[in-house]
Amino acid sequence: MVGRMAEIGVILSGIGGVGKDLTRLLSARPGYKLAAAYTRNPELAGRDLGEHAGISSLGVEIVTDRAGALAQPADLLVVATTSFLQDVAEDVRAGIHGGLNVITTAEEAAFPWIIDAQLADELNHLAEAHRVSVIGLGLNPGFVFDALLLTASAVAWDVESIRIRRVVDVSRFSAAVLRRIGIGHTEEEFEAGVAAGSITGHIGFPQTFSLAARCLGRGLDRVEKHLEPFIAKKRIESDNLSVETGETGGFLQRVVGFVDEVSWFEAEFIAHLHLPAVEMNAQDSISIEGYNPIHLTIDPGCNPQLGTVAMLANCIPRVVEAKPGFITVADLAIPFARETLPGIRFS
Ligand SMILES: NC(=O)c1ccc[n+]([C@@H]2O[C@H](COP(=O)([O-])OP(=O)(O)OC[C@H]3O[C@@H](n4cnc5c(N)ncnc54)[C@H](OP(=O)(O)O)[C@@H]3O)[C@@H](O)[C@H]2O)c1
Repeated sequence: MVGRMAEIGVILSGIGGVGKDLTRLLSARPGYKLAAAYTRNPELAGRDLGEHAGISSLGVEIVTDRAGALAQPADLLVVATTSFLQDVAEDVRAGIHGGLNVITTAEEAAFPWIIDAQLADELNHLAEAHRVSVIGLGLNPGFVFDALLLTASAVAWDVESIRIRRVVDVSRFSAAVLRRIGIGHTEEEFEAGVAAGSITGHIGFPQTFSLAARCLGRGLDRVEKHLEPFIAKKRIESDNLSVETGETGGFLQRVVGFVDEVSWFEAEFIAHLHLPAVEMNAQDSISIEGYNPIHLTIDPGCNPQLGTVAMLANCIPRVVEAKPGFITVADLAIPFARETLPGIRFS
């Protein structure tokens, strides 16, 4: 649908970094109504959602009662809590049962079938039965490696191979997210965490590679991942986490997707709390090799927080109008930026 539409009611599950930024953006957009917000954190119960997000009161009280929140009239639930399909499944199920379309930022949900095909199928059938759409979305996965890459491939004759590089300032993520991806650890903790799987690096490459392979007609054999730390030479202070000299201030992640045992999709992901410490700037680049190669550079690179919530907000109308079921970003019509209220300030 292009142009003005009726107000879309949105409910939030999880009001950390993504939930707060989405509150700020949606409250500046005509055509959206923040209908309810719930969290597992009892300390936030009773607070006003707008004030929690750093803007003026919205008259929406944060609750811990999921059923109460989902009873509010709305069209769509945004689940921005964790990265893992299993951990968002209960919220997604509850949203579907409430007749809501669901967007989750859980990276694993961007292509859930490779994580748990049974659970993905169950949620797909449930969504179809309730005539709603469920999707995993964000900036990455969601945009840089997926919507943007696939859109760029629209002018390719063929795709022999893909290379993507992202250099990302992650300093605004919460301490929980930063520590889980690999920042703020001694070198020994980092190695042990990577081996044990508790330090994950960026999550979502296998999902991205699988979606690209499915869309571009390739069969992905396997994905290899390698992580190495950047050790801080000086203490780094950031909003949510400070790192001491000798601890990990960032990491380099290399991920390769193989087709017919040949490297087909290569991704390099550099995340750091303070990019100048490693003499880098935020930048994203995409190379599609083939008969007529396509090379894109985004400079400065997409801001991980602001870009994520923009993608979520701009996709909301697309998800509401999408076909029912568990879908991917490749099933959506092209999203674009929507009107904001005249004279609005975002903070
Ligand atoms: N696809 C993408 O491009 C993309 C982009 C951004 C973020 N993400 C992912 O989206 C998730 C949220 O990001 P964020 O930056 O908002 O994180 P955040 O600032 O850490 O906030 C997460 C919120 O969810 C709550 N939460 C965490 N685990 C939970 C669980 N198992 N059940 C219920 N609530 C839970 C937290 O509550 P407490 O305060 O009680 O811990 C917090 O309020 C992260 O996993 C992140 O990796 C994906």
